[in-house]
Amino acid sequence: MIDARPIVAALREFLPADGVLTEPADVARYERGWRYGRGQALAVARPATPTDVAATLRVCRRFGVRVQVMGANTGLVGATNPDGSGEQLVLALERLSHEIEIDPIDRTVRVEAGVTLGQLNEALAPHQLWLPIDLSADPQIGGMIATNTGGTSLMRYGDVRQNLLGIEVALPDGTLLDALSPLRKNNTGLDVKQLFVGTSGLFGVVTRAVLQVAPRPRQQITAWAALQHGEAALALLQHLEQQVGDALTSFEVLARATLDVTLRHGTDLDRPFGADLPPYAAILHLGSTLTARHLDLAAALQETLVPALEPGAIDGLTDILMDPGGRAWRLRHQIAECLHAEGEVLAFDLSVPRPALPAFAAAAEALATERCPWVTVCDYGHWGDGGTHLNLIWRPPEAPSDDAWIDEIQEQIYALCVQEFGGSFSAEHGVGPHNQRYYDRYTSPAVKAACAALRQHFDPGRRLGTGRLGPEPI
Ligand code: LAC
Ligand code: ZN
Repeated sequence: MIDARPIVAALREFLPADGVLTEPADVARYERGWRYGRGQALAVARPATPTDVAATLRVCRRFGVRVQVMGANTGLVGATNPDGSGEQLVLALERLSHEIEIDPIDRTVRVEAGVTLGQLNEALAPHQLWLPIDLSADPQIGGMIATNTGGTSLMRYGDVRQNLLGIEVALPDGTLLDALSPLRKNNTGLDVKQLFVGTSGLFGVVTRAVLQVAPRPRQQITAWAALQHGEAALALLQHLEQQVGDALTSFEVLARATLDVTLRHGTDLDRPFGADLPPYAAILHLGSTLTARHLDLAAALQETLVPALEPGAIDGLTDILMDPGGRAWRLRHQIAECLHAEGEVLAFDLSVPRPALPAFAAAAEALATERCPWVTVCDYGHWGDGGTHLNLIWRPPEAPSDDAWIDEIQEQIYALCVQEFGGSFSAEHGVGPHNQRYYDRYTSPAVKAACAALRQHFDPGRRLGTGRLGPEPI
C-alpha cells in the first residue's frame, strides 16, 4: 500500500488547503461515477491552473503514483473513477475553470478544461454563439475531448473532434504541450491535438482548448413524427435532408417501449400521440440563423411534411405533431434517467451505417427477447448519425438470480453490431473499464500497436488512467 502522506505533503507545497482532499467524506464523491465506476482514491488533487496540473503530474512521477483524471464525472464507461486499489491519485479539473476567452470575430473560444458545457454556453450566449454539442449531461470540456462526445446535433455540427482547433495538454512527465492554435487551416504536419481526442486521457491531461463555436440559431422548430416501422424513419430522414437539409439539426428516434417508460417516469412531460403510441417516434429539429422574416422555418417544415403524409408518399409515416416550444427535448433528455427508474439496465452505446438501423434494431430485439424473455428492449438514438442506444431493462425478481446471462447477451449484442452489421461497440461514450473487453476484442492489432507506441512515448510509466488502448495488460 502506498503511503499517501509524503505525496500529499509535496502537493500541499503548491496547492492550497482545498486543493488536496484526503478526508474520506470529502473524497467519496470522486470515487463513484454518475452511473458506472466505483473505486478508492489515494487522495484528490484539485489544481486550478495548467501549470499546477503539470506540477501535480511531476509529483506523481517523482513518487511513481498512478493518476485518474476526472472531469464532471458524468462519463458512461467507468473511465473517470479510480480503480479499487486505493493507490491512484484523482486529479480533478473542476477548479481549472476560470478562463473563457471568446473571440466573436474569429468565432472561437479559448477555454480551460474544467469549464462545463453549460458554463461555456452561458458565456457564449450574449455573443449569439454556442458550442453546438447537445447532450443529456453537463460534462467538462476536458472530459468531452477525452471522450469525443457526440450528442443529438452531431449530424449537423459534428462531434468534439470536428470543432476542436487547438489544445494544451499536461504530459505525464510534467511538461505542458502547447498546441493552442486557433487556426482552422493549418496543414503543417502531424495534427497532434487529435491524439488526445477520444483516447480516454491516456496520453495526457487536457488543460485548455480552443474550440470553434457556431452562430446560435435565431429560430428553431421541433416536431414529432409517428412511424410504423424503422424503414419509415429512414425514408423520412432522407426526405427531410433533401427538402430542408440546411436546417436539419437532429433526427432522434425512439421505440414505443422507450417512449412509454419515459412518459411513466419523467417529470413535466407532454404526451405525444395520446393513448396509442406508435411503434417508433422521431423527434425532428430544425434551426436557422435566419429570422422568420427571411425564412419561415415552421412553414418550410409543414410544406415538407404535408406531402410526405399523403398516401403512398412515405410508407409507415402516419402522423406529425408540430412542437413549436420544443417540449419534446425535455422528454428526450430524460430518457436515460427514466430507463434506470424502471429497473436494472444493460445499456449499449452503438452505431451502425444508417441504412442498417432498422434491421439491426429488429435483430437485436429478437436476439434479446428470445434469449432473455424477462427483458424489455428499449432502443432509442441518434438515427441521423447512425447512433443507437439499445437498453435491456428488467426487474431482478423476474430474471435468473445468476448473472451469467448478462455477460452472454452482452457478448452477443456486441458481436451482432460489430461483426454482422459493421457497427461500433462505442459510438459516442468512449472507451473505459466498462467496455474494455470489447475494445480488446474488436480493435485491430495494428491500431493497438500504434496506441501502445504512443503510450510508451507519452507515458512510459503507465501512470495515467485505468484503461488501456494498446495490447498490454494494465
Ligand atoms: C443519450 C446518451 C445516453 O443519448 O448518450 O441519451
Ligand atoms: Zn447518446
